[in-house]
Amino acid sequence: MEAIEQIDIRDAARRIAGAVRRTPLLALEVGAVGVEHPLLAKLDLLQPTGSFKVRGALALLTGVAVPPAGVVAASGGNFGLAVAWAAERLGIPAEIVVPATTPPDKLAPFAAFAATLRVVDGYYADALAVADDLVASTGALHAHAYDQPEVVAGQGTAALEVLEDAPVETIVVACGGGGLLAGTIAAVADRARVVAVETAGTATLHAALDAGRPVDIEVGGLAASSLGAARIGTLAWAARDGIARSIVVSDDDVRAAQRFLWAGVRLVAEPGGATALAALTSGAYQPAPDERVAVLVCGANTDPGSVRELRRVHARPPPRGRSGRPPTGV
Ligand SMILES: Cc1ncc(COP(=O)(O)O)c(C=O)c1O
Repeated sequence: MEAIEQIDIRDAARRIAGAVRRTPLLALEVGAVGVEHPLLAKLDLLQPTGSFKVRGALALLTGVAVPPAGVVAASGGNFGLAVAWAAERLGIPAEIVVPATTPPDKLAPFAAFAATLRVVDGYYADALAVADDLVASTGALHAHAYDQPEVVAGQGTAALEVLEDAPVETIVVACGGGGLLAGTIAAVADRARVVAVETAGTATLHAALDAGRPVDIEVGGLAASSLGAARIGTLAWAARDGIARSIVVSDDDVRAAQRFLWAGVRLVAEPGGATALAALTSGAYQPAPDERVAVLVCGANTDPGSVRELRRVHARPPPRGRSGRPPTGV
């Protein structure tokens, strides 16, 4: 935990205040999104560029010296958009490397920014290798999507706001490379339990916990463009003692959570943005009767049509099958 204790969330919060939005913590009544428990939803999908990633991007660029060559970032889309946004605010040149697997709804918004966009074959790990080369040849600052203390500190500001707004026992967050997870653990210290949720196709934390050390995984599935790091970050790994539960959900669970969000609160969340909620809507995480639970809804960059294509809408959870889990494809 030592690396995490060094992370200064409050200083990051001061640096990004006024630029990054203080997003609402929405009280959801029992059944509102298909969960038989009241929930608090931190709506960080309402941030500029559509994800919480602006917190970490701006915290980094305001927290370290940026060389004249500017900043380079590899990203599955959201972090790149966030760095492009933050760099433009600060007048810093930026180059963003994304894999060709990045969905159009994450690529199109780059047109609004001055940053140079470079699209390379493969997944996030391939974009990261190209970004490393660019940094070596230009002397630019490398903005790492999840494994830099300033980025992690910025991501942790969401959990800090949750705790300022409501007393909660548990905060449920999605985990890709683990920057959000590490920041959340650093922000809550011992004040709340942190539950980490991954999809089966992006389960870097689960694989590391199984192996006893960070290992590379084969990335795929619905949430790959946001949660698709090949290996859990060193900062998240160092913070693993702060993880109360690690949960893996299926792509069907995530789709169901997206649809519950649309049906219940008319919010469009991308798969990675709905992954934490999927732990609750699927029943994989069942809160204790009086447990006050906050869930981070953290990204919106997807085709809205993918969420609106509802075959059936349940205002309350569907009856449970013999497995104890709700049927998928809700
Ligand atoms: C919407 C969304 N949720 C969750 C994550 C996971 O963040 P981290 O890589 O810090 O675990 C990302 C990362 O890009 C994201 O875009």
